[in-house]
Amino acid sequence: MYKFPDGFFWGAATSGVQSEGSTNQINQSIWNYWFEKDSKRFSEGIGPDIVCDTYNRFKEDVSLMKEINFNSFRTSIQWARLIKNFETGEVCDDAVRFYNEYIDELLKNKIEPIINLYHFDMPIELQEKFGGFESKKVIDLFVLFAQKAFELFGDRVKYWTTFNEPIVPVEGGYLYDFHYPNKKDPKLATQVAYNIILAHAKVINLYKTMNFSGKIGVILNLTPSYARSNSGDDLKAAYMADLFFNRSFLDPMLNGYFPQDLCEILKKHHLTPEINKIELEEIKKSKVDFLGVNYYVPRRVKAKEKKDEKFNNPEYYFDYYINPDGRFNPYRDNNEIYPIALYDIAKNIQENYGNIPWYLAEIGIAMDLKSEGDIKENGLIDDTFRTNLMKEHFIQLHKAIEEGSNCFGVHQWTFIDCWSWLNSFKRRYGFYRLDLETGERIKKKHGEWFAELAKNNYFN
Ligand code: BG6
Repeated sequence: MYKFPDGFFWGAATSGVQSEGSTNQINQSIWNYWFEKDSKRFSEGIGPDIVCDTYNRFKEDVSLMKEINFNSFRTSIQWARLIKNFETGEVCDDAVRFYNEYIDELLKNKIEPIINLYHFDMPIELQEKFGGFESKKVIDLFVLFAQKAFELFGDRVKYWTTFNEPIVPVEGGYLYDFHYPNKKDPKLATQVAYNIILAHAKVINLYKTMNFSGKIGVILNLTPSYARSNSGDDLKAAYMADLFFNRSFLDPMLNGYFPQDLCEILKKHHLTPEINKIELEEIKKSKVDFLGVNYYVPRRVKAKEKKDEKFNNPEYYFDYYINPDGRFNPYRDNNEIYPIALYDIAKNIQENYGNIPWYLAEIGIAMDLKSEGDIKENGLIDDTFRTNLMKEHFIQLHKAIEEGSNCFGVHQWTFIDCWSWLNSFKRRYGFYRLDLETGERIKKKHGEWFAELAKNNYFN
């Protein structure tokens, strides 16, 4: 029997853009804009306009959460929905009503809301006018938005997070072309990364001065890097991948300072961002109360075979390889299934980051409609494949908790199949299937399994 600590959070995560739909939204994020400009890049040409239509259906959805015994749930407040005038901070009344009612509905049903402030959703106006987080001005506008959110909802929301996977807009928008503004510019990438870390720090420090009784943290996608072999070169490759993709955000956000070797590498390639002492003090001072971790896949690396001439992205220092002994999810490209990574993540937090309280803020098993199959006679979609893999991951997590890891919950990605950036609805992750024609939510078998787990706080 795998029993979890009392009060353990069981629930799911989604985000504003991916679930709400843009009904009654005055401002738009980069996603609506990019989709209008270039819908061909989005799987099956499906954009973020309707998605789960949570804006209109949140009451029904909260009752579906209740059905599978969630005691907590994460979503995000959209900057572009809440704020009418970004410079003055004037809010949109309808958005205030919507988020108030949504939060109250969750609380009424004893579901603890974890509210995130930024899930890849830069308002297009700020991207076009100032370059989004390329600009330090936008940092202050983000702090103003956060302040409004705290003032409006901070009396009831006890768990806040600043950013979800802050490295993703940096990679996608400035290195690898999978987020707007689709630039490939490592110098700008380091500036954006730094500015996001500073924005995070300022919001943390602001929250701490506002005397709320809640907690505030950040959600990072941690991807353990494993070397192909124990050779010095391969180990160095894994070290570099970890440095760029994990420690670049983990160290400043948890420990208050940047890894020295990362600073030296950036200096060597003339990529040091514009920084100043006051900002570094702000970062040093910002203490998160907890960490959220998103985990899907491990990163396998080996020593570089052919050296690039110029630093264009972190792969200057390593190559990827496919683990020959690995197990793969047939429904998602290059998706190695490696539950032990979760144990390794927990150990890393325990040993190197002061055993800070953390929760698994996203974990999910992608399937597609075909692999989930049609609805079975008892009305449930059969996704036993998902349950079996989730169990394996939870066993690893349980082991780490038994060994003292300070993990306080698990949120699965995601609640109802939601829209996902360029992938739209290609990969399904939800406890409930979303029928795109009718908007109907159809429960999957995994939802039943999870309901028992959440009720009992253990599984066999
Ligand atoms: C996480 C993001 O990285 O992965 C989510 O926080 C995203 O927003 C999820 O939807 C799944 O991504 P994908 O691309 O597999 O649908």
